[in-house]
Amino acid sequence: MIHVREFTTNDLAFGMRLKTAAGWNQMEADWKRAFELEPHGCFVAEYEGRPAGTTTTCVFGDVAWIAMVLVDEALRGQRDRQSVDDPRD
Ligand SMILES: CC(C)(COP(=O)(O)OP(=O)(O)OC[C@H]1O[C@@H](n2cnc3c(N)ncnc32)[C@H](O)[C@@H]1OP(=O)(O)O)[C@@H](O)C(=O)NCCC(=O)NCCS
Repeated sequence: MIHVREFTTNDLAFGMRLKTAAGWNQMEADWKRAFELEPHGCFVAEYEGRPAGTTTTCVFGDVAWIAMVLVDEALRGQRDRQSVDDPRD
């Protein structure tokens, strides 16, 4: 089961690890900006109790921005094989 929960500042190191593995250039300040823009719109997916992936979202008027979609390389390719425990349920 994949469990989705809100991103917290405790997840910054995890997010930084994933973006570095992906070869991206964001800095910790970029994650903090996303988190500050939409504190309840940034998420961590956990697989078997450990962080597996991230995403951030924010809304600017009529425009929504989804960013930082990252999955731990070791855990990719789970589509259609895992159900997701949606935090809104
Ligand atoms: C993109 C990423 C999150 C996909 O994770 P994953 O666990 O392999 O994804 P899933 O198994 O759940 O789904 C795979 C599907 O996503 C699709 N996909 C992969 N990368 C994609 C992308 N950048 N945009 C759109 N779709 C993408 C695949 O084609 C596949 O679709 P299919 O089953 O119809 O062929 C992962 O490869 C990753 O972290 N990549 C590095 C960061 C990145 O490029 N993020 C996306 C850009 S913001």
